[in-house]
Amino acid sequence: MARKKIIAGNWKMNMTPSQAVELVNTLKPLVVNDDVDVVFCVPAIDIIPAMEAAKGTNIHIGAENMYFEEKGAYTGEISPAMLVDAGVKYVIIGHSERREYFAETDETVNKKVLKAFEHGITPIVCCGETLTQREQGVTIDFVRQQIKIAFLNVSAEQAASAVIAYEPIWAIGTGKVATTEQAEEVCKAIRDCIAEIYDDGTAAAIRIQYGGSVSASNAAELFAQADIDGGLVGGASLKPDFGKIVNY
Ligand code: 13P
Repeated sequence: MARKKIIAGNWKMNMTPSQAVELVNTLKPLVVNDDVDVVFCVPAIDIIPAMEAAKGTNIHIGAENMYFEEKGAYTGEISPAMLVDAGVKYVIIGHSERREYFAETDETVNKKVLKAFEHGITPIVCCGETLTQREQGVTIDFVRQQIKIAFLNVSAEQAASAVIAYEPIWAIGTGKVATTEQAEEVCKAIRDCIAEIYDDGTAAAIRIQYGGSVSASNAAELFAQADIDGGLVGGASLKPDFGKIVNY
């Protein structure tokens, strides 16, 4: 069975609640495409107003992060139950910005992935190398390690429903998109890694996105690759261009 494409926006730390409502209202007529799962991952405070504004559309509202504990004395964190209660179905886990600025590690990513599945939320698990790692020729080794640790103790059934976002750090917010060959090479390596950990069926089912300077002009070529099942889009997800990406 062909995998359904999934195209997600990552708003990062942009949009106040009222701006979020405006943006959803602007984008909703532009992102209609039944062949694609469309997700807007928004700041926690924007989830409820964005969800309200997206009601009755094909847009899923997702989160950009969550904590791996159930509840308690973790000031400032958002629990999986809070996301579920707000209607969230997708959560970005382990974005490189969280790893870099908020000390997330492969181990915390694994805890969050397990917790998301426990609550029936689909994790969008991020991985990707730095420019130095690419130049050192260790990209695939590094990404395989990130994936192997992120999926520790995750069942095959859960993994089959997961989303992985391959985002080379050097391509994020730089306008420097990976070539389609580079993107496909790593996305294929990730799928092979899933086949090794699990089996061919799981590898054939899991959806793998490319992220890093995805735009209206490069989306079609990237999403045509055999192992690229959509994109995780930063900057361009805040603009009407996102409609063009969804309808690549
Ligand atoms: P840009 O699309 O702005 O490069 O951001 C990519 C990203 O980090 C999405 O998570």
